[in-house]
Amino acid sequence: MNLKKILTPLFMEEMLRPPKGRANLLAQIADAEDNGEAKIFDDVLSKVDDPKLQKMIQRHRDDEVRHGQLFRECVARTGVDPGPMPPELRALDRIDRKVGGFFSRKIEDERGVMIAYLILQVIEERALEQFALYLPIFARYDARTAEVFREVIADEERHLKYCEAISRRYAPDEDTRVAELNRLRLLEASAHLETEQANTDYAFAQGIFERPVPRIFWQTMTQWGKKSPILPLTPQARAAFAQAG
Ligand SMILES: [Fe+2]
Ligand SMILES: [Fe+2]
Repeated sequence: MNLKKILTPLFMEEMLRPPKGRANLLAQIADAEDNGEAKIFDDVLSKVDDPKLQKMIQRHRDDEVRHGQLFRECVARTGVDPGPMPPELRALDRIDRKVGGFFSRKIEDERGVMIAYLILQVIEERALEQFALYLPIFARYDARTAEVFREVIADEERHLKYCEAISRRYAPDEDTRVAELNRLRLLEASAHLETEQANTDYAFAQGIFERPVPRIFWQTMTQWGKKSPILPLTPQARAAFAQAG
């Protein structure tokens, strides 16, 4: 077990201790669920003619919209208005920039459908890792929010299967799909690292770390982490790169 694996849950516990910390994080999750991806689904639908795949895409889109609503209800239960979302906290915008503005371009062909679903796949992989981390912490404060995380995790696991099925169907061959998937995993990890840092800076600026001793400790740790950043690969990315040698 590496140091980061031990420290991250402790850091999150401190950040989520005040209701404002919980409201901020839940608002970010809600935003990522129903803001960023919606256009991709509609765009992809116009390119896919297999009714079985169309059903998957529609169900996936409807799930993400529902997840957004569920997390907004979680925000409301904290009793804190997190205010407008600062643009630097938008994880999907950052991923979009890393993949050359893919979200705002029209999907033109089968390769475009493959890439769209591989981007969704790496986003789902990250969501699963993060939600598993948040669930036990939120369970201490609000049983309903923990229940929402459990429900959403089950959906995201199903979405991963959709992503695999659809990207495979539209990939020119398996080698291309795997190479593209791993390339996107690296880009997503670098976007995630930047979003994590932006989030930490925001939390300190907002006074979310209320207790002085943990605040000084985590400020020191995050400054140290910025000097020697480690690319935060998801478990799937780590497994893929270990296998590739
Ligand atoms: Fe979701
Ligand atoms: Fe999802």
